Amino acid sequence: MRTNESARGSAQAEVHAPWGWTDAHRAQHVSVIGATGAVGRELCTLLVQAKHPLERIHALARAECAIEAAGARLSVRALPQTRDGLHAARTQLAFLCTPSEISLELAPALCELGTRVIDLSSAFRMRADVPLVVPEINPQALAGGARLIANPNCTTVMAAMPLAVIERICGLEEVVVVSFQAASGAGVPGLETLQAEAREASGLPVGQRRASPFPAQLALNVIPGVAAVDELGISGEEHKVIAEMRKILGRPGLVVEATTTRVPVERCHSVAVHVKTARDYSLPELIAALRAAPGVEVTDDPHGPRPRECAGLDPVFVGRIRAGTRGARSLCFFAVGDQIRKGAALNALQIAAALTPES
Ligand SMILES: NC(=O)c1ccc[n+]([C@@H]2O[C@H](COP(=O)([O-])OP(=O)(O)OC[C@H]3O[C@@H](n4cnc5c(N)ncnc54)[C@H](OP(=O)(O)O)[C@@H]3O)[C@@H](O)[C@H]2O)c1
Repeated sequence: MRTNESARGSAQAEVHAPWGWTDAHRAQHVSVIGATGAVGRELCTLLVQAKHPLERIHALARAECAIEAAGARLSVRALPQTRDGLHAARTQLAFLCTPSEISLELAPALCELGTRVIDLSSAFRMRADVPLVVPEINPQALAGGARLIANPNCTTVMAAMPLAVIERICGLEEVVVVSFQAASGAGVPGLETLQAEAREASGLPVGQRRASPFPAQLALNVIPGVAAVDELGISGEEHKVIAEMRKILGRPGLVVEATTTRVPVERCHSVAVHVKTARDYSLPELIAALRAAPGVEVTDDPHGPRPRECAGLDPVFVGRIRAGTRGARSLCFFAVGDQIRKGAALNALQIAAALTPES
């Protein structure tokens, strides 16, 4: 049993090392590239909250500006455009919170300069030599000492967190995922588009609007097929969920079906998941295992979890856990998580925290 003394000790340790971020991690110079975006801003916020010294947080974006992160003002520098410029600006660790096409060029260049890179785009996720990591699921993928590590797709993370627990308890045979994805999954342009459309729909004045990243109005609507749809009718996001789920769970042959949708929610992705397990399971045991799993929180609310209440929080919330009607091995649940946090910035920080800091 934990004594009061040890409980106090671990509470203090958490204050000083939230998300596993220790003094040794704080000794590193860390770049956040894409710091003005939805994910980059959140990463800066997490670093400030984790007490990373401000002078060792190097925020970069396309152009110079300043951002606010957890009450601190950070200067943002323009990303150098030459190799010499990059060399002069290099740090021990870089988080790339940039579009894939930028990450594709930047990550190898930074690795060559000796920087360890955690990329949040989809550019390298399926490359065999690049670990794709959710620290609660496959931390062993970091053991090889890779210099470039990929953070998974945010929808995939929401489903994978509970699915990894189910895989451990009774195996997975088939997985069907339907997503309900927030506007901010398309970054600042996505969020601002939804906010402007919502104002317009309420008859409120809307200032100058930027181009929408969505193929149709999102406010008061649902848009099926997140990202472009290929000749087989499968969307880019659906391909990512299928392929990345298999890689993270280490199950290349797993049957995964996905339908992705964009919904008029500001923040938090939701997934309805239908599973056929490999072996019979006991529902109380499975729920107990989910309750005990790090990073997962089970809710008993029959109408939860919901994105509005999960925004800004760390766990992936799982509810509506019930046996399905397709036999003893069928199971259904609903999961919600803040995709900018656990689906992106927080997961990336946890990856960095799991690595031995470099001096
Ligand atoms: N949003 C999510 O929920 C989420 C979740 C998981 C992964 N991701 C991935 O994370 C990455 C960032 O997404 P986001 O949602 O944060 O996008 P965002 O809000 O559109 O931000 C993009 C960031 O990239 C910067 N950038 C763009 N072009 C650049 C260039 N040529 N040089 C330097 N910086 C450049 C932008 O800087 P300026 O402001 O100066 O243009 C901005 O800081 C993407 O690859 C995305 O797929 C996003």
